[in-house]
Amino acid sequence: MSFNEVASNKVNSVNYTQYTVWELPVRLFHWINVVSVLGLIFVACIMMFKAELGITGLEAKIAIKQVHIVMGYVFAINLLMRIVWGFVGNQYALWKNIIPGKGFTAILKSYMGSIKNGKPQTYLGHNPLGRLAVTAMITLMLALLISGLTRAATDVYYPPFGGAVVSYIAAEGVNPDSLKPYDKTGTNPEKRAHVKVLKDLAGEIHEIAAFTLMFIILLHIVVVVRSEVKEESGLVSAMFSGKKRLKDKPEDVLE
Ligand code: HEM
Repeated sequence: MSFNEVASNKVNSVNYTQYTVWELPVRLFHWINVVSVLGLIFVACIMMFKAELGITGLEAKIAIKQVHIVMGYVFAINLLMRIVWGFVGNQYALWKNIIPGKGFTAILKSYMGSIKNGKPQTYLGHNPLGRLAVTAMITLMLALLISGLTRAATDVYYPPFGGAVVSYIAAEGVNPDSLKPYDKTGTNPEKRAHVKVLKDLAGEIHEIAAFTLMFIILLHIVVVVRSEVKEESGLVSAMFSGKKRLKDKPEDVLE
């Protein structure tokens, strides 16, 4: 029995083995991420359709951004903790086992072949397609984190980089702390133009990453639901309990 096999039992005369796969930090990350991303998308929609929603006035516009940014901090801290866990967690949490590297093409080919044959290989952690999806989602979320924090700093002077922005654009002899978002008073026009280039670039990256992420999240949900319905894989309950029950021997179990 391997270190992560917990129990073996019979259900409907089929032998199932139960494994502990997702550790608590991974499960916490997943559900905090779901809630924060949904919240961020919801507030982003309000920002995008504020005119249609009858939201006018600078104060209201800035207040909505502030809500999005505070939610963004929760999202960012959670994501950074998961990135660290990917270096210290169990084998299913490690980036070296998730991000495609040497030998991945052969693993993917073998998995796609098994699907074509109608006998999909069983994986305890992410299957090869799941590894691609997770890599894409984490990359896009990192892009959202970096571009979001850049936009928060250059647009409304929010931490952690807002202090550096106001120090840079403050005109000579002006206290940077006295600068206000969307108010040119006390700023150096040339330096403000430099910051605008960065702000516009961050805005472009942020929007492209947001819409691409939403598309991949939809795909991710469709694949998980399909696997639950067709293969009774128990993927969703495993993200709550951390445990998976399998009848076939998985490809990625350590002996
Ligand atoms: C899954 C994560 C995220 C998604 C899906 C998302 C989505 C979006 C979208 C669609 C917009 C455009 C709204 C518009 O055009 O008016 C936006 C704007 C913005 N986001 Fe995010 N965002 C995410 C994370 C973050 C993070 C982590 C931060 C920083 C803490 C952040 C800060 C901002 C800021 C400051 C804006 C304002 C842009 C502006 O109108 O000037 N976002 N976000």
